Amino acid sequence: MTQWIWMNGQTIPMDQARIGVEDRGFQFADGVYEVIRVYEGQPFALNAHLARLWNSAAGIRLNLTIAADELAAAIRKFIELGGVREGMIYLQATRGVAPRNHAIPEGVQPTLLFYSRPLEPMAAPGQVGVSLISVEDERWKRCWVKSIALLPNVLAKTAAIEAGADEAVFVDGGVMQSGVITECCASNFFAVMNGALVTHPVGARVLPGITRALLLDLARGQNIPVQERPLTLAQAKGADEVFISSTVREINFVHAWDGVRIADGRPGPVTLSLHRALHGRIREECPMG
Ligand SMILES: Cc1ncc(COP(=O)(O)O)c(C=O)c1O
Repeated sequence: MTQWIWMNGQTIPMDQARIGVEDRGFQFADGVYEVIRVYEGQPFALNAHLARLWNSAAGIRLNLTIAADELAAAIRKFIELGGVREGMIYLQATRGVAPRNHAIPEGVQPTLLFYSRPLEPMAAPGQVGVSLISVEDERWKRCWVKSIALLPNVLAKTAAIEAGADEAVFVDGGVMQSGVITECCASNFFAVMNGALVTHPVGARVLPGITRALLLDLARGQNIPVQERPLTLAQAKGADEVFISSTVREINFVHAWDGVRIADGRPGPVTLSLHRALHGRIREECPMG
């Protein structure tokens, strides 16, 4: 089956797509990206993802030359024509091709592309648990930009896999020093403590996750107190429940962390309740059919 890609306004077979050697995404990781979930053939939270894309682009002084509603329409058309039912859209915008020079060039057309990848339909809440390892947070201080410069995340995720874990959690200020938990290498981090949902504020150290924002909203709707504040590694490990969230994962409860069992290895009641509520939101926006 042909794998299609939308690139600078045209939908072409992926194996015919070409990017210039001097594309600044390739040479400088000078670009931003988004991952959008598709359920039942419909993109979920598309407007929120596009709003974040424009914020990320502004964060690196990248001027996207397409209008957001035009891009949204192109994504919807692509999903429909490609028959994507359950999957994700990977979207990337780079500054485009220019003779190599660190300084941002003037008048260069950005490279904008997206394509889809299939995913399994959503699993019932509480089915997927993950194990974490702690790694030093060595990233830059503009983590609110969803940058394609992901080497610290790549190294952290590889360290997690080599340690037999699923995901790495970033600790700012040192793992041995019980520094502050920021987020995970491709997901946001949450702890449930004394009935409250606790997560690090977004900004310099934490990506404003679309799933994170939805979960905070759903928690408030369930009268679960929300506390956006830093937690140290030692504090977080003592939480009643720990889970991570992302567009692709939705919610995964954490059953082990640095080789130690967490919360009896089972998903807790707040985690389950929020996951059910998230599925409710998804079904409202992307009904079965
Ligand atoms: C570093 C990081 N934090 C958080 C998230 C979760 O964000 P979202 O819920 O928008 O997918 C991601 C997703 O890829 C991520 O890379």
